[in-house]
Amino acid sequence: MDALLHRGYDDFRAFVNPLVSMRATLSSEPYLLERVEQGRLIDADGKHYTDLLAGWGTQAFGHRPPAIEAALMAFLNGSAPSFYPSGISPYAGLLASRLHQQTGYDAAFFASGGTEAVEAALKLVRGATGRPRIACIQGAYHGCTFGSVAMMQAGPYRDIFGPHLPMIDALPFGDMDALEKALADPSLAAIVLEPIQVEAGVRLPDAAWLARLCHGTGERGVLLVADEIQTGLGRTGRFLSSEDWPRRPDVVTLGKALGGGLMPLSVMLTRRAIFDGVYGKFALAEAHASTFSGNALACVAGLAALDLLDDAMLAEVRRKGRLLRDALDEWVAPSPLVKAIRGEGLMLGIELDAPDHPCYQFDYLGVPELASQPAIGMLLVHRLYKAGYITQICGHAWQVLRVQPSFAISDDELLACVHALRDALDFLWDLQ
Ligand SMILES: Cc1ncc(COP(=O)(O)O)c(C=O)c1O
Repeated sequence: MDALLHRGYDDFRAFVNPLVSMRATLSSEPYLLERVEQGRLIDADGKHYTDLLAGWGTQAFGHRPPAIEAALMAFLNGSAPSFYPSGISPYAGLLASRLHQQTGYDAAFFASGGTEAVEAALKLVRGATGRPRIACIQGAYHGCTFGSVAMMQAGPYRDIFGPHLPMIDALPFGDMDALEKALADPSLAAIVLEPIQVEAGVRLPDAAWLARLCHGTGERGVLLVADEIQTGLGRTGRFLSSEDWPRRPDVVTLGKALGGGLMPLSVMLTRRAIFDGVYGKFALAEAHASTFSGNALACVAGLAALDLLDDAMLAEVRRKGRLLRDALDEWVAPSPLVKAIRGEGLMLGIELDAPDHPCYQFDYLGVPELASQPAIGMLLVHRLYKAGYITQICGHAWQVLRVQPSFAISDDELLACVHALRDALDFLWDLQ
């Protein structure tokens, strides 16, 4: 392995986050990764890994997709400015126009991380309505900046950082009465929700509740914000997962794979009238801004990513999603450790339920600090690492394994991963 890179892993432990390094070592997480071949990760010993997490969603087109690399190389080999002092990036213009063609939203604010797009949405809805209150949904994950953390599910991502942004209320997921009560409040500016709550365990909203949420917000001039940072850009088999909601959201956030897996890039999309209602005066035109917003390299990657994500690719996500789901239902669902399988497209969750035996508990495994959490998900992740698969549990629901492979995964790889899952589950069942 390249000596400098190797040192980088040690330096990460020393200067970035020692516990992340320790966790990776303890759980046999493949982290001494050296190269990519045909979208797959290869470690320093030459072992190949299939990334069923798609780099937390960023690598939807596979690792180092050649088309994105080529677009970035073409830009770097040219002489176009990489930064526009006027703030007018033509690449941002082209990307915003492509997103408009694809989604119908005709106003875009670009940022780098997902949580920045969410922050832009929170400020937009308060500015647009002149109302202070924002409702989110219990179980949410919208990122780690203060606005997003104010909407975060209670727990380690939220609790120690209070006091939180005021007038943010978390509605119980699927609770019709709580929804009606929130809608009746004239101070409500917006409801923010994820089409699928991934970190809460790949939870899909009930259709009647979602319909009421869509219609109720429309009736009362409450803005509807869909955080599609996980579900957007084809993950569910549609460009936007919210495309089939009874009412199109007023604001949508995208991130993760938008930069083609090579550049950090996110966007908040909305309608021009809403955007101009807040930023439509000269004095306020840049009242919400970010230095690198719409930077050339990120937008070049974004344009190449949208070229890849055509109708044929969306159809492939739907087809592969069905193939994966059918195979999981046949091979994985019968395991006594599996309670439920749910999701859409290539965003699936497998809910586990371990017997009450010490071998499935963190204190028995020597990590009493985590004793309140179920260990079965992590045990499965660990077994899958050993078998050459990268997966993870959901951030707020450790009993749910998320399976969200790259769209480029082959049918054979999908079926092989289902069999590896079944083998790992059988092994874990036999532990007791
Ligand atoms: C639904 C959702 N929103 C927002 C974010 C935050 O994105 P980022 O980590 O890029 O800030 C995430 C991250 O996983 C997410 O899943």
